[in-house]
Amino acid sequence: MARHGKIPNWYNKDSEFEELFHKNTANEKITNRTIEKILKKYKVKTVHDFTCGTGSQVFYLLKRGYQVTGSDISPGMLKIAARKTKAEKIKMQFLQGDMRTLNVGKFDAAITIFNAIGHLTKAGFEKTMRNIYKNLNGDGIYIFDIINLKYVLDKNNIVKMSLERMETLGDIKVRELQHSIIDNTGILTSYTTFYTQKGLEKPKVSKNIITLQLYTAQELRKMLTQNGFKVLGQCGIDGSELKDTKTERIVTIAQKK
Ligand SMILES: C[S@@+](CC[C@H](N)C(=O)[O-])C[C@H]1O[C@@H](n2cnc3c(N)ncnc32)[C@H](O)[C@@H]1O
Repeated sequence: MARHGKIPNWYNKDSEFEELFHKNTANEKITNRTIEKILKKYKVKTVHDFTCGTGSQVFYLLKRGYQVTGSDISPGMLKIAARKTKAEKIKMQFLQGDMRTLNVGKFDAAITIFNAIGHLTKAGFEKTMRNIYKNLNGDGIYIFDIINLKYVLDKNNIVKMSLERMETLGDIKVRELQHSIIDNTGILTSYTTFYTQKGLEKPKVSKNIITLQLYTAQELRKMLTQNGFKVLGQCGIDGSELKDTKTERIVTIAQKK
């Protein structure tokens, strides 16, 4: 069993695969549109993305006129983000830093998207809330998402989260297989295998175990309230109304009190 709370090495080791399977997906588009709608609703101008990864939200929001900066703990992910600034003809520098401690300034909004806070322990997430609080303007907002623990525990939903997919990288085929289990502390452990195969040559196999701390919507509200925030709303990743066991990924919007 992997120890939870350590930043997965795979963000450095297999960051190219993370980018390959994540970019331009329907999931990515839906997520970014929802974030944008929320930013618009709260008249946000400046945003810091504390878990920017390869820059999915940063590039999307920059193109829509927001002033955006980004940081992440993983050099492997930041290397790809930097490469993308060249391709996108955008001049910006990403920072390497830990969302629990990084001090970057004062923003209208802070974001940590795509289950990023799941990598932290509960204590680490509370530390992050207090740190993000310090990096926000007076009535600044914090937006994040995380898989809903109640959804995963309901019926056989965990099986629906299994996946098998394939992408092409030049003349190489990359196949990803993943299944997960959940324990009684709400930690989801996902077992992922990547098969990288050039033509019909013998494939290279890379195995990863990633853990994510999941939360219920109620628990998130309680933690935010105890750490200086007022919860403005919670919804599904597509902006839909939050439903206890039906919503798979919860988006939470909290404001500095
Ligand atoms: C699933 S990726 C999401 C990246 C990006 N937001 C997106 O949607 O593509 C989660 C990111 O969180 C980052 N991360 C994990 N723990 C972190 C920490 N303590 N501080 C900053 N970044 C962290 C990882 O390096 C990874 O890039």
